Amino acid sequence: MVQYVSSSSLLLAAVLFMVLQPYWATAVTYNVVNLGAKGDGHTDSTKAFLNAWAAACGSASPATIYVPPGRYLLRNAVFRGCKNHAITFRIDATLVAPSDYRVIGNAANWLAFQDVTGVSIIGGVLDGQGTGLWACKRSGKSCPNGATTLGLTKSNNILIRGLTSLNSQMFHIVINGCHIVKLQGVRVSASGHSPNTDGIHVQLSSGVTILDTQIKTGDDCVSIGPGATNLWIENVACGPGHGISIGSLGKDLEEEGVQNVTVKTVTFTGSQNGVRIKSWARASNGFVKGVVFQHILMVNVQNPIVIDQNYCPGHKNCPGQVSGVKVSDVTYQDIHGTSASEVAVKFDCSSKNPCSGIKLQDVKLTYRNKAPESSCVNAGGMASGFVEPASCL
Ligand SMILES: *[C@@H]1O[C@H](CO)[C@@H](O)[C@H](O)[C@H]1NC(C)=O
Repeated sequence: MVQYVSSSSLLLAAVLFMVLQPYWATAVTYNVVNLGAKGDGHTDSTKAFLNAWAAACGSASPATIYVPPGRYLLRNAVFRGCKNHAITFRIDATLVAPSDYRVIGNAANWLAFQDVTGVSIIGGVLDGQGTGLWACKRSGKSCPNGATTLGLTKSNNILIRGLTSLNSQMFHIVINGCHIVKLQGVRVSASGHSPNTDGIHVQLSSGVTILDTQIKTGDDCVSIGPGATNLWIENVACGPGHGISIGSLGKDLEEEGVQNVTVKTVTFTGSQNGVRIKSWARASNGFVKGVVFQHILMVNVQNPIVIDQNYCPGHKNCPGQVSGVKVSDVTYQDIHGTSASEVAVKFDCSSKNPCSGIKLQDVKLTYRNKAPESSCVNAGGMASGFVEPASCL
């Protein structure tokens, strides 16, 4: 009997050890300064960061890459494929892109994570130094496209918390082909006149959550591209910027749809749009289905609520001029505040695929202290509760 008890408790101990081992394993920390990085603002520290990444990826236990206070100059770098699925980048510093925009201007991303799982990026300021490129673009000269500041590609279980992105050359953060990504307490800041500087762009990704975020930029605060599903956006302040946009969709004939998107508790301040769905006037099998815009405050927004399915810049390359994208099941609930233009609600849908299941519930917008107007083309649905401007559905 005694022997039985002791062998079973041995077994128990062994099982406990196996279960708990990952938590006992001592996390290792790689300080980039110990690997040669210099936070002096002008020494290229790219190699040290990549070496820290390689070391962390090679570690069998959870690893932290630590960036102590300072300004670290980095060229474009890709942090890719990694066996370690528990890596934390803890950044108490500013990472700076080269001041000459030509150095990274033709790269897709300045900083990229690709084919990784279980990476957390905590804190940090990313300074994209984009002002030179914006000036080039505004001058009408030929300029590079510009790099996205932070690209996440084909990656899973990613956390980005307390990160600030300043003055990106192009988009600030792009999430492409990912599954389960949480962004919390992120700040994006660029001039309201900076070209193509979308705050956060999500496409071909599922389970992305964007919480407690402030975005001031020159293009969309959040843009939602083809293949974004199960997307949750909550507690965001947007403006200046072009609003939260689903689209542009339907540029291609074959395109993944956008499905199950929630946008909740958002304030738009002085932005060009509030909540927008936008598609090209081109043939496409794309769609938008199951969207909720809820608890939204508009402060002097040009186009608070808009569906535009006639997007065709320069009226070029839109044979037939009709969008194939089907928009259905879109709810606008508890939306209030001020419009900066007379038409506060505009549903301009496709004649081929009229919008269906549009719901307006408890909407109260004003224009110069009066009721604004709404406009509907090929849009079907219903209104309930108090709705002003009066519904045209
Ligand atoms: C919709 O997405 C949310 C996450 O944003 C998820 O929790 C929910 O289960 C999804 N609903 C469906 C029907 O897939």
